[in-house]
Amino acid sequence: MITADQIQALINHGRTALASTETVEQFEQLRDHYFGRKQGELVKILRSIQHLDNVEHKRQLGALANNAKQELQQLFSAWQNQHHHASTTLVPDVTLPGIWPTVGHVHPLRQLQEELVDIFYAMGFMVMEGNELENELYCFEYLNIPPHHPARDLQDTFYVSGDDQGVKRVLRTHTSNMQVRLMQQYTPPLRAVVPGRAFRNEAIDASHEHTFYQMEGFVVDENISLGNLTYFLKTAMSRVLQSDVQVRLRPGYFPYVEPGFEADCSCTHCAGQGCAVCKYTGWVEMLGCGLIHPTVFASAGYEPGKYTGFAFGMGLMRLAMLKYNIDDIRLFMGGDFRFIDQF
Ligand code: PHE
Repeated sequence: MITADQIQALINHGRTALASTETVEQFEQLRDHYFGRKQGELVKILRSIQHLDNVEHKRQLGALANNAKQELQQLFSAWQNQHHHASTTLVPDVTLPGIWPTVGHVHPLRQLQEELVDIFYAMGFMVMEGNELENELYCFEYLNIPPHHPARDLQDTFYVSGDDQGVKRVLRTHTSNMQVRLMQQYTPPLRAVVPGRAFRNEAIDASHEHTFYQMEGFVVDENISLGNLTYFLKTAMSRVLQSDVQVRLRPGYFPYVEPGFEADCSCTHCAGQGCAVCKYTGWVEMLGCGLIHPTVFASAGYEPGKYTGFAFGMGLMRLAMLKYNIDDIRLFMGGDFRFIDQF
């Protein structure tokens, strides 16, 4: 019958044997001797404990055997750690195929953003990224959206604790926050684009994300008209979508423009004939735009009536979805290389 002394002896033997073990072969033999699944010493002991009749005996010896197992495992892994370097003197097989280093690349949204920025830069626009953490004034008030105006409900806002000199802080809900900031800094004529992230408390689905990419663009000068707006939109869209795009304006409400529009592009997938991408209308909704509201100029401190201008704000994700025929917005931020590596 197995005894506590025998179990202790097993540990002692293991320790002595390991101390004089030098090669990996010896080590592996010893390991099989103790831990072998069928004939290993530990298995034998556990098996004979299982067959004991005396329950109390069984419990005590079982605990001892488990301790012994743990102790031996520690001794064996200590040996391995100590001899690791010495034991890995394997000669490399130079005929095996090499491991390709993973080379990253620019994210498709960033690629698109850079492409758009280049297009506008070439047309004389300056480029500013601007604040993501904003205060309510620049995000709303200065843009003609007063605190209790229902228009605030159009954008579900993330408020951030703390304040900016007494004004509540928010994550910008649109890149329009940079309109007045830039107008305050520069005197017209002014042409600017603001690419960057914006944040809204959205319920996420195939076409809504809480963090999304926009590009704002605006021009302030004397005698700016809707003709100028459509020219720039048509030119930029045609360049980025690499086809001769038509632009159509539909009335749309944004408190900081008057008149305000939703602009659609003719569908590049079916050349306006009607397909799944454009939901068989021939047009794809692209952006919000309009002529800058006098209140916005007043917020910037411009002389009343002196300047006119247009502004537009487009969703880069939506544009990317149209350009690359992607049907789920969540793919952009999903981190799945099978998607990302296609670009
Ligand atoms: N800020 C608007 C949005 O996020 C877009 C817009 C920008 C509309 C500029 C008009 C003028 O939806």
